[in-house]
Amino acid sequence: MTASLSTIEPRYFRDVMGHLPTGVVVVAGRQVGTGEPAGLVVGTFQSLSLDPPLVNFSVALTSTSWPKIRPAGRFSASVLASGQNDVCRVLSSKRDDKFRAVAWHESADGNPRISGAHAWIDCEIRHELDGGDHVIVVADVRHLEAGEGEPLIFHRGRFGRYREISA
Ligand SMILES: Cc1cc2nc3c(=O)[nH]c(=O)nc-3n(C[C@H](O)[C@H](O)[C@H](O)COP(=O)(O)O)c2cc1C
Repeated sequence: MTASLSTIEPRYFRDVMGHLPTGVVVVAGRQVGTGEPAGLVVGTFQSLSLDPPLVNFSVALTSTSWPKIRPAGRFSASVLASGQNDVCRVLSSKRDDKFRAVAWHESADGNPRISGAHAWIDCEIRHELDGGDHVIVVADVRHLEAGEGEPLIFHRGRFGRYREISA
């Protein structure tokens, strides 16, 4: 059992888990000191608890953006809308001028929100948990708002859109 677990190839793990479709969420905050926005794309964002309202996502230990966001203790999550695949490409890149290349505005909490997104959730970091080569970020929801349109879907390394098959 243990032997078979240890022989799972990371690439195969990714390929199989890629069959689980996800939404595409930009986690973004302001850097303490400069006030410059920083952000990255996550596919692991989800609701965790209703009372209290909590969300969680996981971020790689190698992320360069998360260490810029976390000192402020808060961030916004923008659920990308279909058609925002270019925003996803920019925010999941390593370029340091990500927020010059996308349309964004500020939330009431002062967090950067992606304009035209499908929903926004403003959060306060509660704690971080061990998640192997990622950390699991648990956060309290402060404000949230639904936008227009439909969500962007990520499945097997490709972008798609939602299609309703029953009422
Ligand atoms: C659809 C999609 C989902 C992703 N999900 C995650 C995730 O859940 N956690 C994570 O750490 N990186 C995730 N990434 C990768 C980061 O967005 C990417 O590594 C980003 O460049 C982070 O780099 P930086 O923090 O150094 O800026 C995802 C990328 C894409 C395109």
